[in-house]
Formats: sequence, C-alpha cells, structure tokens
Amino acid sequence: GLSTSAALARRPSITGAELRSAVPLPPAFQVPLPLPAVLAPVSTAGGTDRYEITQREASAEILPGVKTPLWTYEGTFPGPTIESRRGRPITVTHRNELPVPTVVHLHGGHTPAASDGYPTDLVLPEGWHDAAMPTGHGSEHGSHGMHDPRAVVSKLTRDYTFPLDQRATLLWYHDHRMDFTAPAIWRGLAGLHIVRDDAEDNLGLPEGLRELPLMIADRAFAADGSLDYPALDPTLRERPGVHESYLAGVLGDVILVNGAPWPVHEVDTARYRLRILNASNARHYELEAVTDDGRRLDLVQIGADQGLLATPVTHRLLPIASAERYDVIVDFSGVPVGSRVRLINRLGSGRTRDVMAFRIARHATDDSRIPRTLSTDLPTWRRSDAVQVRDFSFRAGQMRGDHGWLIGGLPFDPARTDVTARLGDVEVWRLVADVHHPVHLHLVGFRVLSRSGRPPLPHDAGLKDTVSLRPGEAVEIITRFDGYRGRYLFHCHNAEHEDMAMMANLEII
Ligand code: C2O
Ligand code: CU
Repeated sequence: GLSTSAALARRPSITGAELRSAVPLPPAFQVPLPLPAVLAPVSTAGGTDRYEITQREASAEILPGVKTPLWTYEGTFPGPTIESRRGRPITVTHRNELPVPTVVHLHGGHTPAASDGYPTDLVLPEGWHDAAMPTGHGSEHGSHGMHDPRAVVSKLTRDYTFPLDQRATLLWYHDHRMDFTAPAIWRGLAGLHIVRDDAEDNLGLPEGLRELPLMIADRAFAADGSLDYPALDPTLRERPGVHESYLAGVLGDVILVNGAPWPVHEVDTARYRLRILNASNARHYELEAVTDDGRRLDLVQIGADQGLLATPVTHRLLPIASAERYDVIVDFSGVPVGSRVRLINRLGSGRTRDVMAFRIARHATDDSRIPRTLSTDLPTWRRSDAVQVRDFSFRAGQMRGDHGWLIGGLPFDPARTDVTARLGDVEVWRLVADVHHPVHLHLVGFRVLSRSGRPPLPHDAGLKDTVSLRPGEAVEIITRFDGYRGRYLFHCHNAEHEDMAMMANLEII
C-alpha cells in the first residue's frame, strides 16, 4: 500500500471507483419495496421489553433470480426493526452464530458504556477464544497485535441493555468490531430501531402505512451472486483501482432500499412520512423527489438524527451522508394517479442516479398534518456555555506502515484516551476535514454551530449525532456530555475510514 498511500496523499479529494457488479441487474422500479418486519419481544414483564436476535448466515434473493449469501440479524437484511417507547428500557440478547466475532452498537442510542458496543467488546462465536482474534484493517488477514485490557469479551451471547431515555427518533443497530465494521455491515449486519413517544404520536403526522422507513445502501455483486467486497481478499489488490477504492470507501453500482434494488412502492394521493437512513458504507447522496413531468416535490424535513426539529424545514435537495437520518414528509396529493415520483440521487451517475420510485396508485383522503411547532425541547446550548473548545483534524495519513485515516494525526488505539470530558459539561468541538468525512459521536446529540465560519446549512437543523464534513471544511458543533460515564467513541462513519483507524476514544468522567 505505500505507493497507493503516496498517490492518495497527493490527491486528497480522491473518491473511489465504483465496484461493478458481475451479474445481470434488474431494471429500476420493478421490485416492490420491502418493509422490514417489526421484532416482537419475547417478554414484556417487569417494565423491560426483552428481545432475542440471532446473528447468522442466510441467503436472500436480493437481485431477482440470484442467491446472495449474507450475514444477518435474524436471517434478513435489513435485520428486524425494533420499535420502542421513550423511557421504557429494553434488553436485546444477541447470539453470535456467525463465523466471526461481532459487536453490536445502537447508533444514536443514549446507552450506558457497557452496552454501547465498544469495538473490542466482542461476542465470540462457538470455537473462538480471545487469543485467536485476528485484527488488521478490513483484510481479515493482517494482525497489528493490539490488546485491549479493558475489553469485556463474551462467549456466544451478550445482553445489551438500552434505557432509551431519549427523544423519539430513528436509530439503527449495526456491527462495530474493531477493523472489521465495514465488511460486516456490507454483508448485512444492519437493522432499524424506532423510538416513539406520546408527544410525537399526538402531532397528527402521517402514520401506519403512510410512514415508511427507508434504509438506503449501495452494494456490488460478484459473479457467484455474493456481495463483492475488495478488502476481504488481498489478491484483489491486483485488480486495477480496487484497492484504491477500498481506501476511499467502498461504493457499489446497485442502490438498495430496505434491501431491494431500486424498488417501487405504491402510494395514495396523500402525505407520507419517509424516515430515511443512509446505511451505505461510503456513498453520500443528494436526494430529490421528481415527478414524471420533471417537477421537484418539496421534501419537508421534520426531524434529524436525534428527533423532531422545532419547526419544519423545506428542501428541494437533501444531502445525506453515511449514518445520517432525515425525517421527511412528501405530499403526493398533487401528483396524477398512475404516474410516478422518482427519488433520485443527484450525486449519482448512470444507474446510481436512481434510488427508488413511488407509483401513485389511488385517490385517498388525508387527515394528517405538519404542525408548525414540532417540538419545544431542543437543547439551546450557546457558545458561552462551553467549558472546553477542542480541535480535531480528520485527515489521511500513515498508520502501521500502511495507509490510514487519522484523527488529530493519530490512528485509533483502544489503549489511548483521546478526550476526557466531564459529565454534564458543555463543549464546542471544531472538526476539520481533508476529504468528505461524516463524523459521528456516540452517546450524545449535538447541534451544528457553524460551517467554515458561516451559519449552518438548512439540513443541519435540529439535534444530530452525525455531521457531514465536506472537503476542506471546518465544522463547529456543540454538545453536552450527559447521562453516563465511561468509555465512548467518536469516528468517521465512512465505514472503511473507520476500519482504517479514523476513530478515537472519548472518556466521560
Ligand atoms: Cu453507527 Cu460508532 O457508529
Ligand atoms: Cu472519513
């Protein structure tokens, strides 16, 4: 990798070449949109809902007529959706029947450190013991021999407890094993989690069949139908451009929504609530909803990563980076029955321009509304509340003799504490990027204060847990370290960057 790294260093704005699928791909807007099943608790006794999830290999027909082996939660991709109520704790028992160790993180969860899925808190499958743990970014062959004395390793199962004492919003759960998160998510280890509360239920927003979770993720398929992933096979370093595309972040040529390629969904002439998650490893999107006659519909944003905005914000174009969520209302009432609205990605080209389509199937009445006041409980931290201002650079660099992505010039090391913050303190963090990096903080929500000295953008509204740093940008965020002490993380959510060490420890004391 050294020569590639040098090339990268000379070309800081590099984006990876897309992997090309080696199987026939279906036409767009033919496959129906799947809606992930909602998982039933195994028990609701004692004020806690208990869930069980088995992580196992399964195969699915993602492309028509093609069998694709996957790593799954409960046999499906996406995994089953968990629906919870604010303030009602749940316990999820994960059982690892996969061939590799795993770690579960609830992204956006306000979770005690012991259940937050620290990257070395492994759940080992049958037949594995601690010492057998291979590490080394993404390749599953390398080893940097790192040992984390604080790791809490479990055999076969682990109970994760989530108090869910947090604002109603769309979260997601995914694998978080050190150095191997990207291939694990790529192979299918991702699912949705919706936290609800009474205040939101009473707003009159579109609900039931008119509330659609949309997990958007790109993939590429190898000739045998399996998911193509460069870093799993070191021989692929010889395939021109492939290793370089791994370094930048892996992009596929197929856009999946809820695990289906370029799906279509039949809708009424009514408002719909789209709960959009970008679960792609590295691809970012600029979404537009376009009618057959070329009209762009309003995307009325009502919520961000961490729940409802104060008031709605109307977009025509909505950028969404890896791990971000946008809660958006689209009104199909002015669109002719029989026509389509396509959700397209303005940053895509060719087939990756299409995302999915809505076919307007029937006239219907609509008693939903979009209140002008959505919430009144957003934190109002000001710069003057901050007791600390910290600076972090997110840049390419060298690590372990190979290319890496570094925070403050350092690669992730579980044994090093990068930030010590005091419980209850408000801090301002200034994040500077070379190329595009979506930066995520565990435990807390934050607000965006500025972008390169200018006011935040319209889509920065509300409370976020992931912020998209654009190339060369300096973004200021403000947060309060609230709730729990312990060891947490912040990192780039380009999953390949994360595996190549763009992650750091945040100790809350
Ligand atoms: Cu979505 Cu630390 O992750
Ligand atoms: Cu990054």
